[in-house]
Amino acid sequence: MKGVGRARVERVGVSVGLGSSFFSGVHALRPRHLKSMPSFLGDLLDESQTHGDALVYLESDSAADLGDAARRLLSVMPAWRQRWSIGGFRKENRAQGGKWLARNPFHFTEGFGNPDTEREVVDRAVVVPGQGEPAWAEGGSYQVIRIVRFATDLWDRDSVDEQERIIGRRREGRWLDGTPGEEQPNFAADPHGKATPLDSHVRLAAPDRRNPPPMVRRSYSYDRGDGDSGLIFSCFQRDLVQGFETVQHRLEGESLSKYVLTTGGGYFFVPPPGDGWTEAFVRP
Ligand code: HEM
Repeated sequence: MKGVGRARVERVGVSVGLGSSFFSGVHALRPRHLKSMPSFLGDLLDESQTHGDALVYLESDSAADLGDAARRLLSVMPAWRQRWSIGGFRKENRAQGGKWLARNPFHFTEGFGNPDTEREVVDRAVVVPGQGEPAWAEGGSYQVIRIVRFATDLWDRDSVDEQERIIGRRREGRWLDGTPGEEQPNFAADPHGKATPLDSHVRLAAPDRRNPPPMVRRSYSYDRGDGDSGLIFSCFQRDLVQGFETVQHRLEGESLSKYVLTTGGGYFFVPPPGDGWTEAFVRP
């Protein structure tokens, strides 16, 4: 971080994730599950915004500080060539009931389904254990980025009620059977999906309410103009298969799929953050 002023560093959160190509030639050091992100059913990956040796992930409540930090980082690492970049935002970013929430441009509040931000719960889902991994990787996490373009025009032609049946929650988080957003719905009492359709996003993403997917999502929205807007989906997990990939496969065939197109992203490994994972998720 040479050359970056102290005041700036305090306002910009920086993390660096390493892609599998970073470890070519040093295989013994590669985190065990790290690989190149595969193309999933329905993906249309654009190589110019997919993969990379390293992911530099900057977060701040000031867009000006972010741009400044990005420029300074590139200037102090002249050997690095920027492969791609994307800017995002979190509208109505806030903490509520131990969850970090934001509203996406499709009018829904996201974050309710994340594990509680208590340290043990987050750690169990996210933190890589020492066993079976190179020693340096203990305490780190696998990060998945997906640039998901969203058909906002098509979506906005649907009624609010239809949109909520596609997601499986009310826009503000309440469940369709009336259960408050922060409590668990009783899917077993709705086996045919009368209240919450079986092909809705949340029902497929997390069907077993006692065993939520071991991952923490923290996505950003993006809008690059000309209708190219959507989600910079981001999640962290200790195991890519048990976390992201299992959920992604379950979501094949969800009713949301006709509105979404994944065009980029990648898999990265993030070394342990200095101040711990819980704190990392609870920063703005
Ligand atoms: C543009 C794409 C997507 C949109 C608009 C979207 C939107 C949402 C919304 C509104 C919720 C309910 C609130 C919440 O719990 O956060 C949700 C929940 C969830 N989503 Fe997504 N999501 C998208 C992509 C994905 C992807 C790619 C995955 C993982 C492969 C995923 C996994 C989940 C999980 C695990 C939940 C929690 C379900 C629960 O416990 O209730 N989502 N999503």
